[in-house]
Amino acid sequence: MRILVIGSGGREHALVWKLKQSPRVSEVFVAPGNGGTAREGAINVAVDAGDLDGLVELARKEKIDLVVPGPELPLTGGITDRMREAGIPCFGPDAYCARLEGSKAFAKDVMNRAGVPTARSQVFTDPDKAKNAVVKLGAPLVVKADGLAAGKGVVVARTTQEALDAVDDIMCKRAHGAAGAKLVIEEFLVGEEASFLCLCDGKTAVPLPSAQDHKAAYDGDQGPNTGGMGAYSPAPILPYDQAEAMADMVIRPILAALARDGHPFVGVLYAGLMMTGNGPKVLEYNTRFGDPECQPLLMRLEGDLVQIMLDCIEGRLRPESLSHTSQTALGVVVAAEGYPHAYPKGMVIEGLDEADALPGVKVFHSGTSMDGDKILSSGGRVLCVTALGDTLADAQARAYEGVKAIRMDKSFHRSDIGQKGIRRLEQLAQEEK
Ligand code: AMP
Ligand code: GLY
Repeated sequence: MRILVIGSGGREHALVWKLKQSPRVSEVFVAPGNGGTAREGAINVAVDAGDLDGLVELARKEKIDLVVPGPELPLTGGITDRMREAGIPCFGPDAYCARLEGSKAFAKDVMNRAGVPTARSQVFTDPDKAKNAVVKLGAPLVVKADGLAAGKGVVVARTTQEALDAVDDIMCKRAHGAAGAKLVIEEFLVGEEASFLCLCDGKTAVPLPSAQDHKAAYDGDQGPNTGGMGAYSPAPILPYDQAEAMADMVIRPILAALARDGHPFVGVLYAGLMMTGNGPKVLEYNTRFGDPECQPLLMRLEGDLVQIMLDCIEGRLRPESLSHTSQTALGVVVAAEGYPHAYPKGMVIEGLDEADALPGVKVFHSGTSMDGDKILSSGGRVLCVTALGDTLADAQARAYEGVKAIRMDKSFHRSDIGQKGIRRLEQLAQEEK
């Protein structure tokens, strides 16, 4: 089979790596891909992930049998519908279902219709009405731009003034463009976050093990928020024996509601959860694999990912189709110094083979390009060094060893991914004694 993966980050490298393990695969194309996907033996093609016409043309020309979109942009733009019109199977939701991620107001409406636990919220299209509500409700509050804003459209406001300023920025100044035409104001929830992803075939949802990502740039949860400095699976706060109950609570009711709307959901449905004192609540849905959660999740997945994706598209996914190692996987992002603010590009990266040769370690590329036989950095998040271990502490130690093998001609940093989970596991062990 000939496969086309869409995207250019660590998630897409992990998808390429896993898909290429299937004996059914003859060729993998990536649009546009990165240095890691090229090293994996895939063919990078310079078509942007948002260029739907270009993607359809590429899939037709290369006689692609399966399209696997990584990021949200092509999904909300309707890549699955477009590929379907062209008769090419695509592992992802249609544009209607992708609005679960593309519009927070739509997601809230579906959650409320489906009876899924989530923060109380109101939707506004008029800034004055939104500001009146802010004053009436009082801080703390969360203000969210309705549309896609590259993860930057959510303001957790500790004071009423911050919430008023957020309404101003999002709606009046249009800090995130058209994404701010509507906004959602919601109740502030307290708890630990976890990522819960299911594979879906329109009616059946099969859970993956839980994961947790880590946004703060520096150790001890300090520093500015980033796109994600690493992730691990499982998240100790959400053990696998709770996965079926969680799918019943936050995923299956959504599939049923979308199917009633005439749009069965195919692909990955990802619930961002807040584990509160009053039980789990959904903060958001993503309609794709998370980055960097995908890297540890695919390290744990056993079996043929191509077959699993085809089963989803053809509506015959079964729980037995999926299995995963009981080991823990942890991915730690190697970031250019300065990230998430200004950072250098074009650093020469060495030591990749040494890192990959360490036991249980696989280096996924987040922002690299290939220049002859050299690998150069091209993004703030450069690599995601991922490792399997018998415990979270083992996986962390192995991933950190992998980072030590990496050399660049300018400085880079990583944060202490896994520390919070290790502390929680130690606490749990104490409580059990
Ligand atoms: P979202 O894109 O909706 O997941 O929001 C991004 C981040 O904002 C989440 O990962 C949370 O850390 C935080 N957040 C979102 N909604 C809430 C909420 N209702 N209460 C507290 N924090 C929230
Ligand atoms: N790791 C969060 C996301 O992919 O949106």
